[in-house]
Amino acid sequence: MQRLEFPETFLWGAATASYQVEGGIENTDWADAARNGRVPPAGRSSDQYHRYEEDFTIAHSLGHNAHRFSVEWARIEPQEGQFDEDAIEHYRAVLRALRKRNIEPMITLWHFTQPLWFSESGGFLRRDAPEVFARYCAHVVDTLGDLCTHFTTMNESMVFAGQGWVVGIWPPFKKNLLTFLRIERGMVRAHRSAYRAIKQVHEGFSVSIVHNVRLYHATRNPFYRIAACVMTWLTTTQFLWQLGKTYDAIGVNYYRHVKFGDMGRLPKTDIGWEIYPEGLCEVLRRLARYGKPLYVTEAGCADAADTFRAEYIKRSVHALHRALGDGVDVRGFFYWSLLDNYEWADGYGMRFGLVAIDYETLTRTVRPSALVYKDICLENAFVIDKPNA
Ligand code: FCB
Repeated sequence: MQRLEFPETFLWGAATASYQVEGGIENTDWADAARNGRVPPAGRSSDQYHRYEEDFTIAHSLGHNAHRFSVEWARIEPQEGQFDEDAIEHYRAVLRALRKRNIEPMITLWHFTQPLWFSESGGFLRRDAPEVFARYCAHVVDTLGDLCTHFTTMNESMVFAGQGWVVGIWPPFKKNLLTFLRIERGMVRAHRSAYRAIKQVHEGFSVSIVHNVRLYHATRNPFYRIAACVMTWLTTTQFLWQLGKTYDAIGVNYYRHVKFGDMGRLPKTDIGWEIYPEGLCEVLRRLARYGKPLYVTEAGCADAADTFRAEYIKRSVHALHRALGDGVDVRGFFYWSLLDNYEWADGYGMRFGLVAIDYETLTRTVRPSALVYKDICLENAFVIDKPNA
């Protein structure tokens, strides 16, 4: 038996995103696409908009000391330039509910869904998108900043741009490489401008960006090796390079590794992604070179039967600990997700939650794997049977 300790201030929790759990969000590009039958409707989801107290009581009972969630831009700025103070009041209540339970909040300012007025007027292709996005972010930080100090501007902008403009399965369902590059550029500019605007509101806040990192592995075949290097460069290196110095921390979302060449097969999660949580260590080591604190803002698996989730979590945490041992500055781990939720184009079929949702009755049921994670959170340590495993 070996006990792996974590730093004293380490954040342990889970993540969610507004459109995936809140319910009742109608004025976004995603809701519009659902009305047109192009993606599944999110509907009332788990109704977290009204049930956050219950959900945070569960998170607290599961030993979480931190929680990552997103605020919905379309609720806060339903019309261009007009901010809804009731929406802000709502998120203030959400933050107070977390604080009351000693749960440290981390707010994502934008997680995939756009207000309809923004997407219909060109979204991140708009020439003034950086100013528009920065104004929204500054407003949120200004009005919520006394209750939260961790802000992340964007969640996985590259995934958003890729799914919407290359793969074409998310709004606006395009397949156009040139527009993809323009969107990416527009988002980088929007992030940079938001970063500066937030810093003007609260100089001391930690402002991060959340990036999805895929690991690309290859056999010894030189072509595959080059392909893996090119993909790593395209999806991560050049993106972070474009951001310059406009982030104080990096949020890392890690789910998948992609193999070039015949490297054998591994079991898959319900969504069809190979199970390889060990890759998290390599991901963190690679990102260490950017010299900023890292947070694992998402790692998790779709597992309706809850048969491999506990093991997945343990292996992820073990991989993270290995990175810490190498001197990588990792400060938190957020399991995706606290609750079952709306998984974008896959709708409600995928079950990522530590807590199961019955979408008929909205009953919350803690899955057994959540208790395994609870022990890790409460102990701030992880006990392994085989020291060299
Ligand atoms: C990530 C997204 C998150 C969720 C997980 C499974 O890419 O950030 O919203 O859908 O995948």
